[in-house]
Amino acid sequence: MGGYSIVSDVVIKTVKLTKRYSSWWGSQTVEAVKNLDLEVYRGEIFGFLGPNGAGKTTTIKVLLGILYPTSGEAYVLGKPAGDPETHHRLSYLPENPYFYEYMTGKEILTFYARLFGIPEPERSKRVNQLLDRVGLSRAANQPLRNYSKGMLQRIGLAQCLLNDPDLLILDEPTAGLDPIAHIDIRDLILELREQGKTLFISSHQLSDVEIVCDRVAILNRGELVRIGKLEELLSGGYVEMIAEKVSENVLEPIRQLGGRPSWHDGRLIVEQPDDGSIDRVIDLVRANGGHIISVKPYRRTLEDLFVETIQGGRKQ
Ligand SMILES: Nc1ncnc2c1ncn2[C@@H]1O[C@H](COP(=O)(O)OP(=O)(O)O)[C@@H](O)[C@H]1O
Ligand SMILES: [Mg+2]
Repeated sequence: MGGYSIVSDVVIKTVKLTKRYSSWWGSQTVEAVKNLDLEVYRGEIFGFLGPNGAGKTTTIKVLLGILYPTSGEAYVLGKPAGDPETHHRLSYLPENPYFYEYMTGKEILTFYARLFGIPEPERSKRVNQLLDRVGLSRAANQPLRNYSKGMLQRIGLAQCLLNDPDLLILDEPTAGLDPIAHIDIRDLILELREQGKTLFISSHQLSDVEIVCDRVAILNRGELVRIGKLEELLSGGYVEMIAEKVSENVLEPIRQLGGRPSWHDGRLIVEQPDDGSIDRVIDLVRANGGHIISVKPYRRTLEDLFVETIQGGRKQ
């Protein structure tokens, strides 16, 4: 039996995972994932980010056992990826879920509940509960062809929850959704974390994910370029202070505190690292006869980080 030690809190682990696609004539290969090392912990929302073509879906397919790695290893729930023993503990929402459009929301959930072997009367109870949970009770008896994209994503999520999995792997769950539908999905994701589930969510967009992920990995051209807690990756913002009537004596001490002072129309503008040193700069300015006009923090956003990371990757 495979597996690895100290599995309890590591839900997904890849070690030097590499996946190459070959064309049928074998002459050309695409290295979709290169030497990927990842660990996802129990109970977290993990954002798997990167532009289109970065290798996100390929990684997910390896985690699910749909594709075999070219080299390296992948473990899910303590077993090698694809191990049948783990199947009932995980769920997957594909990038473009396929639904039978003439079935109703209720019928599709009932159909899958039957496949999962959930007996009546529990089956009906579970289906109704899930319809309610994803806000589709009123649309339950409408055919799926009448559903909006957001409603289809929600029925897809309900389907993923039928087997009460520990791990949910969602591939681009918010792609193509309008802002309201984004918020609905985001709230559902948060609710699932509250219940102790682990969520692995891929996305090429950022705004919606930024708020909910505990940790993120950024993938570009198959390579992991950043990984970490969101607040750590987003640190490194700065605070801008504007003051007037300040003596030039403050310039050198401000530089020593890591700040970048400059003059504009007799006003002093300082860009200070967001590390608490702004307090001392303010004291310095006041002690030198200055008058503070404004102090404004500029936090980095995930968008900034994404752009910097991807551009940095291109330069190499
Ligand atoms: N079945 C396949 N055969 C050949 N190349 C593929 C196949 N699937 C994906 N690719 C290529 O692998 C790279 C990564 O694709 P993918 O994993 O779908 O990225 P993402 O999900 O991040 O958009 C892309 O260059 C893509 O064109
Ligand atoms: Mg994809």
